[in-house]
Amino acid sequence: MNKAYNAVITGVGMYVPDKILDNAFFEKIVDTTDEWITTRTGIKERRKLETGATSDLATKAAEDLLKTHNVNAEDIDVIIVATITPDMFFPATACLVQENIGAKKAWGFDFSAACSGFLFAYQTACSLVESGTYKKVLLIGADKMSAIVDYSDRNNCILFGDAAAAVLIEPTEDKSVGLQDSILKCDGSGKNFLYLKGGGSLNPPTHDTVDKRMHYLYQDGKAVFKVAVKGMADISYELMVKNNLTSDDIAYLVPHQANLRIIDATAERMGLSKDKVMINIDKYGNTTAATIPLCLVEYYRAGKIKKGDNLILSAFGAGFTWGASYLTWSMD
Ligand code: UT7
Repeated sequence: MNKAYNAVITGVGMYVPDKILDNAFFEKIVDTTDEWITTRTGIKERRKLETGATSDLATKAAEDLLKTHNVNAEDIDVIIVATITPDMFFPATACLVQENIGAKKAWGFDFSAACSGFLFAYQTACSLVESGTYKKVLLIGADKMSAIVDYSDRNNCILFGDAAAAVLIEPTEDKSVGLQDSILKCDGSGKNFLYLKGGGSLNPPTHDTVDKRMHYLYQDGKAVFKVAVKGMADISYELMVKNNLTSDDIAYLVPHQANLRIIDATAERMGLSKDKVMINIDKYGNTTAATIPLCLVEYYRAGKIKKGDNLILSAFGAGFTWGASYLTWSMD
């Protein structure tokens, strides 16, 4: 593919709310145990935003990025917020973030692809930069999952948390760094296994939709697990083969954090040892569009990612949506 530029990540930021919901909390509100949650998912804690909305999470992650990397908000060209928990159907959360951070010249939009939201939006953001059209794209993965989780449903309430993380994407003429390749997929036949059916044009909100709890996320966990474990592992391996990468060439797998067993299966398929897999599901649970950038920020700030490292980002989520992206890290 002929690209004018490569798209590189030049800044990162994150925000997680202070309030921690540990497994002991769920032992009190539903019929579950710390042991079940830990062994079946790998999750020990997740965060909950007590007041505010997704735009507040996203704004704080953006502000962290701008401050840390000394970037002027007025220089941002585009803001993309990957989320399935926008503050409202419209205006887009990206517009709310634009105002909050004072990104006076930016345009922006929200991107809905559930747990693959960051990955799909990352490809999109990079394309805007690779063409030479835009110089600074702020991409934020943000979800307030606590807004759509039914805390009486033990199958699902233990899984999700609230968080946001951001990356800044800029052009470079150095083709050895930045996004190298992606394989992205969706298959709408997965629509009956993971969804939120109330409140949209299919089932506009009524007393009946609320009585039927249709404003909450529904997941057939076992069914999703089966396709997710294969989908994430297969596509990550396919991307390696397509780019002639061996496990030695890869510094890290950066997987969507839905279930430690899905992550382990993906790493095993790719031939990667545990030290080459970014994990923070134990601290944050599944934060949907925020999981992958949250890993990137934490590992980068801990000094664990070096310039020139090859990373494979990989996700699976509602839709179904899934995919993998191969990038070479460019920040010192
Ligand atoms: O991020 C988007 C994509 N989503 C995913 O990738 C998630 C995919 N799914 C999963 O991660 C797993 O399926 C879950 C963690 C959701 C569930 O784990 P599982 O090993 O698939 O459990 P299960 O659904 O097969 O349930 C096993 C048993 C059931 O009891 P019976 O029918 O065997 O008596 C459940 O009722 O565990 C029961 N169970 C629980 N027990 C204690 C379900 N939730 C709980 C719970 N605590 N919280």
